[in-house]
Amino acid sequence: MSTPVEKFRNAPPRRLELDTKAMAAARKQLDEGAVTPGAIEWRDDIVALLNGALATELVCVLRYKRHHFTAHGLAASPIAEEFMVHAQAEAGHADRLARRIVQLGGEPDFSPDTLLARSHADYDASTELNAMIHANLVAERIAVEGYRQMIKLIGDKDPTTRRLLEDILGDEEEHADELADLLND
Ligand SMILES: [Fe+2]
Ligand SMILES: [Fe+2]
Repeated sequence: MSTPVEKFRNAPPRRLELDTKAMAAARKQLDEGAVTPGAIEWRDDIVALLNGALATELVCVLRYKRHHFTAHGLAASPIAEEFMVHAQAEAGHADRLARRIVQLGGEPDFSPDTLLARSHADYDASTELNAMIHANLVAERIAVEGYRQMIKLIGDKDPTTRRLLEDILGDEEEHADELADLLND
């Protein structure tokens, strides 16, 4: 007859065991706050992409505000109001991008010295209404293309950032549609 100690030693290995590696990864995830594991690995690249988008949004705010305050002529008033609505939307996008950059442990770059060089879209100081609409439409199309590419690049590496970019992309597509309608009017 075997003793209790021998019984314990001869027992088959337990099958219901926790995955301690996964537990350790979950702990790390908690330390990282809102950052998913894939995002940690790709953090620097994702922050760089988001800073490019942030610069673009900030230049778009400046361009739309310039147009809002300088648009004049018979048809200008409702269009000037539309420019202000877009300026505010772009400022909201910039805020959301900056917040995500900080969540990822990066630094949002608001430096005015390099803003235009880092922006994908251009500033514009057209004085004629149609030229303003055209410049804004071009900028929105650039923004749409930029967000599409970023969404594709990030894929499953950082679902939280991807969802944010998909959300912003939807707004930019709406902006482009609205401006295209104004050009056709
Ligand atoms: Fe935007
Ligand atoms: Fe936009």
